[in-house]
Order: sequence, then structure tokens, then C-alpha cells
Amino acid sequence: MEKRELLYEGKAKQVFLTDDPELIIIHYKDDASAYNNVKKATIEGKGQLNNQISAIIFKYLMEHGIPTHFVEQLNDRDQLCRRVKIFPMEVIVRNIIAGSMAKRLDIPEGTQPANTIIDLCYKKDELGDPLINNDHVVALGIASYEELDEILDMTRRINVLLTDLFKVLGIKLVDFKLEFGRTSDGKIVLADEISPDTSRLWDAETNEKLDKDRFRRDLGKVHEAYEEILRRLTK
Ligand code: TMP
Repeated sequence: MEKRELLYEGKAKQVFLTDDPELIIIHYKDDASAYNNVKKATIEGKGQLNNQISAIIFKYLMEHGIPTHFVEQLNDRDQLCRRVKIFPMEVIVRNIIAGSMAKRLDIPEGTQPANTIIDLCYKKDELGDPLINNDHVVALGIASYEELDEILDMTRRINVLLTDLFKVLGIKLVDFKLEFGRTSDGKIVLADEISPDTSRLWDAETNEKLDKDRFRRDLGKVHEAYEEILRRLTK
């Protein structure tokens, strides 16, 4: 499959058209950004690691009945995916309190809530991706209530599957972000990526952070942490 013109460039990925209008190539870069682009760096080799990690996770989810955009991994930085129209919304699942929720509500990081929390954010850089609720999603025309129900149902199934997967690997799935899209034939599928860039993954024994917080918080050993996640996923 040939790469054609660049369709879109994000912080960590490029999306290319192909000669098939239904298919795109996603290229994983080494660039990292945090705090709405305030902090930026290049982490040598991150693109290769996230490409492999996300491909393994998407294949696992597909094997367990989750529809996704993923078609195949082409090489160490590229994946072939179905072209979808992304719902401009981030779906964040929190199993353990951390990050922005810990800060915003003054809850100690690591607190175990009684329930799973799903946050919705409007994908709009100029506004800093604000937190929104289900009614906002419909009012803003992001999705209908029926589509949102389908997305939330899939999100809960994904959370169960990923929590189980990581538990076996000795990793706590603290939180993660999902994006969904609609295919040309109207099917809702999981899109984007799932990697240490888009999740919080703590070692189950030591609570050591094995994710992008190592970059956000200048903890060092970012590449090593991502490598450890890939090592456990492939062992
Ligand atoms: P938060 O603590 O900043 O709200 O992030 C929660 C989780 O969602 C964390 O694993 C990082 C992920 N996330 C993204 O991948 N992209 C985003 O734009 C945001 C806000 C969060």
C-alpha cells in the first residue's frame, strides 16, 4: 500500500491518504507534547514502541469482538487503518484517581474510587479540550444519544478487556483515553491509538509509572518505561 499525500499531522502522529479511499496510513513519530503543547520534546524510538504497543492492543481487542479501525501493521512506524470520521470527543476512563481528576477535585493520586469514572472532553485545542457531559455531546452535534450509548457501552467492554490484559502482565490500568470514529458505511469503531502516551500504567507491585507521566513530570527513563510495557505485552 502506497503512502499518498499527508491528510493530517498531530502531535505524535501523521495520517496519510493511500490509493484506496477507504484506507489511511498512520505514521508514529517520536515527538511528545504535554499540557496542551506547552511542553515538547523528542523521545528517540517512541514512535516505534507506540506503533507496536498499539497494534498489539488493537489486535487483542478485535479478537475479543471490539470493532476498530486497525487493519495491519506495515512496518516499525506505520499502520494501515480504515479511514473514519472521528467524533471530536475524548472518552477518558478512570479506574484509579490520578492526573487532572486528582488535581481538579483535590483527591490524592492513587485513590481507589468505588466506581469506574468516564469523562468526556470536547476535542478543541483552542479551548484546551474542556470536560463536557452527555447532553453537551448531543447539543454540540458531536454524537446523538444513541451513538453515545453505543460508544459508552463499547468503552466499558474495552475497560474490562484491557484491565484483564494488563493485570496478567503485573500492571494496573489507572486511566486511559479513547477516540471513536464512524466508517463510510456508518459503523462506529474504536480509532486512534492505545499506548503509554494515552494511558496511565503503573507496576502492580511498586506503583512505578510506566507511561507518559515520566515525560510530563520529568521523571526520566521514558523510553525504558515504554520498552518495559512492550516487553511485557510480547512475553
Ligand atoms: P488527565 O489526567 O490529563 O485527564 O488524563 C487522563 C488519561 O487520559 C491519561 O491516561 C492521559 C489520557 N489523555 C490523553 O491521552 N490525551 C488527552 O488529551 C488527555 C486530556 C488525556
